[in-house]
Order: sequence, then structure tokens, then C-alpha cells
Amino acid sequence: KGDPRLQHISQSIRVIPHFPKNGIMFQDITTLLLDHKAFKDTVDIFVDRYRDMHISVVAGIEARGFVFGSAVALGIGAKFVPLRKPRKLPGEVFFEKYSLEYGTDCLEMHVGAVQPGERAIVIDDLVATGGTLSAGIKLLERAKAEVVECACVIGVPEVKVMTQLL
Ligand code: PRP
Repeated sequence: KGDPRLQHISQSIRVIPHFPKNGIMFQDITTLLLDHKAFKDTVDIFVDRYRDMHISVVAGIEARGFVFGSAVALGIGAKFVPLRKPRKLPGEVFFEKYSLEYGTDCLEMHVGAVQPGERAIVIDDLVATGGTLSAGIKLLERAKAEVVECACVIGVPEVKVMTQLL
């Protein structure tokens, strides 16, 4: 809030109406990634926030949470743990199902990726209902990690704007 970098970051995100279906205002972060300053500022804001919080795990949610999460992990000197859609991880996994608008989905995390007591953050590009992030938190808690915070590039205020437009 009040950070002069936020306006440029916000403007770099392309909004595509009615994608992937009617009524959805799709927030396209690929245009943010094309803009070096916007991408770097986004990562720097997260790194500045988390660098002194003794975080040893950055968990990123497939797919767009990987892009931001891995950069933040490198920036703060933490490991990166991918939280993946079903049947992508080859090893033994913890899994957590969550509700979507229609049906359910599931996130998986490798057993052994995180040790009990590790301090973790969960990163994604966008929070809408929060179902995906909640599943991510539960996975880390299953491994007895401490989830210190979650962070997204696009948050709840934009979601409110989106719902007002529908
Ligand atoms: C989008 C987004 C978040 C999730 C947020 O992912 O990247 O992960 O939805 O929604 P929620 O807060 O209502 O749970 P999507 O399901 O489109 O998957 P993808 O990133 O693999 O395309």
C-alpha cells in the first residue's frame, strides 16, 4: 500500500474479459512477465517483506505460483517446493482436495520436501475464493511446517472489482 511500484505493476497486468468463459475477467500476468521492471519490482516487494523472517520454504502453486515463488525463494535464500496438480509428482505425496466453482481439484506435495518446524510461505499469482491457497496451507501443515504467511500478486480488492463488473 502506498508503494509507487504498485501502480506500474498493476498496469502491466492485462485484463481479458470473458476468458476462459463468459463473465470472467481474466487477469493475464504474462504481460507483467514481459515487463522486466514490473516483474523485478514484484519479486523485490516479496523479497523485501520476507528476507528477514527466517523463512526456509517457499511453496509455489502450479502453474503461475511457480514463476513468482521460485524467484522469491532465490531472493530470500530459501528452498522452493512446488505444489502440483494431481499425478505430476513422481514421489510419495501428501494430497489435499479443494472445491472449485464446478467440481473439485487437488494439490500434491512431495513427502520429505519440508521438515517439521520449518517456516514456510505460500505463493500464487492470484487469490479468488481462496480455496487453492487453503489447500496449499493444509499441505504444509500436514508436513508439520509453520505457514507464516501467504502472498499473491493479485488479491482480494481486484476480485471485488471483478465481481462488481459481473
Ligand atoms: C488460478 C490461480 C490460482 C487459483 C485461484 O489457477 O492461478 O491458483 O486459480 O483461485 P481460488 O482462490 O478460487 O482457488 P488455475 O486453477 O486457473 O490453474 P493454473 O494456474 O494451473 O492455470
